[in-house]
Amino acid sequence: MVKEAFDIDALIERHGRERSSLIPLLQEIQSELGYVPKEAIKAVARELDIFEVEVYEVLTFYAQFRLTPRGKHVIKVCLGTACHVMGGQDIFNYVSQVLGVSAGETTKDGTFTLERVACLGCCGMAPVVAIDDQVHGRQTISKVEKLLREHAANDVGKGEHVTKDAK
Ligand code: FES
Repeated sequence: MVKEAFDIDALIERHGRERSSLIPLLQEIQSELGYVPKEAIKAVARELDIFEVEVYEVLTFYAQFRLTPRGKHVIKVCLGTACHVMGGQDIFNYVSQVLGVSAGETTKDGTFTLERVACLGCCGMAPVVAIDDQVHGRQTISKVEKLLREHAANDVGKGEHVTKDAK
């Protein structure tokens, strides 16, 4: 379950109102909630007396920050060189199409988050996909479809995401 609340007063008390507090504030909010919601961006901008766009600039510059909550299952499709050569991009495109999300996005019901990664450290098993940090090597579209179905089936009423046919 995604937590929605953050205590901006307590955060400011811990980190202060200096411009240099911006990243520590955002890091703590993300650590608490799993992402940095719009309300937090507004509150941080107000408390530090800076424009919201400045907060967005920091959030989008650093890959560590997320603007949307993570899903129950995180799917990482490797697009490193070895995986790319072995068809990783086709797998990524398939998962993206089936779930209806792009890299870094989460399905509307919060079941799946799709991520693209540069290397999962097991290039000999390319192409590689990890779901919830469990690595699956030598993937094909039909194997990935099966993985998605299995994970969706474990979530009652959430199977509607993986109903498209593999190509
Ligand atoms: S390039 Fe995919 S695991 Fe290394």
